[in-house]
Amino acid sequence: MQRVFNPIHLAAAAILEPVVAATPKKAATPVNGQHRGPTGSATPTGAAALSGRLAAAVRNGESSPRSVLDEPVDQPRALPPESLLHGVIPATMWTSKLGTNYSLDDIRKNDKRAHAELQRIRWRPDNSRCADCAATPTVWAIVNHGTFVCLRCASVHRSLGTHISKPKGCTGTYLWGPDELQAMRPGNRAANIALLGDSAPRLTPDVSDAALREHLVDKYEKKRWAPAVRPPEPPDLMTFDEPPPPPEEDFFASFGV
Ligand SMILES: *[C@@H]1O[C@H](CO)[C@@H](O)[C@H](O)[C@H]1NC(C)=O
Repeated sequence: MQRVFNPIHLAAAAILEPVVAATPKKAATPVNGQHRGPTGSATPTGAAALSGRLAAAVRNGESSPRSVLDEPVDQPRALPPESLLHGVIPATMWTSKLGTNYSLDDIRKNDKRAHAELQRIRWRPDNSRCADCAATPTVWAIVNHGTFVCLRCASVHRSLGTHISKPKGCTGTYLWGPDELQAMRPGNRAANIALLGDSAPRLTPDVSDAALREHLVDKYEKKRWAPAVRPPEPPDLMTFDEPPPPPEEDFFASFGV
């Protein structure tokens, strides 16, 4: 039976969108709360971030999603370098795989939110296939490269050494730091553009162990395909500070006036 929508309810729904998107029913859709940009890739919105956390809270069996909303908005902040701590080093310090120090307490308090966000990033369509061999599912993160990879590729990454790759399981109970989550946000597609450019071969899950290892050494250790770093974009908005000369001047100048 088709549902009849009251136009007033529809208008209200548009205004209350984030709240509507946050209901568990809508959260069950994998791309809920995301819109498709010009590139066709899904981009999460603020509502998606919220609904993702709420959905995770509901999945985790929390009595009320409200408890997520009530949590402090601030992320744990990095501790200053040891030299500035004046010997007062917190007894319980936690160091992320990327080398940032945090108070373990802060990281623990934020754990539920951090895991909810990690899973939200991991479930994005661009992160559902291994960044290296395109297999599913992606169960490990290589945090220093911002890639989600399959179990098999993760084991090759481990063999490369932590100076090349810093793997971290996505499915366990590991604590995640804000710096690590930040590194994972751009996702596999962005990381592969930076690591592979246009010319590198793309692997499929049936690649042999030897060929896979060789590819990963080329990709991550030798950076064989990484395009040269592009210079920063010219700051377009700044040009408004210096307006071009009025057009009339040029117009009359062309007649020698
Ligand atoms: C983190 O703490 C360790 C141990 O105190 C220290 O050696 C290291 O330099 C700190 N790292 C940063 C980035 O401050």
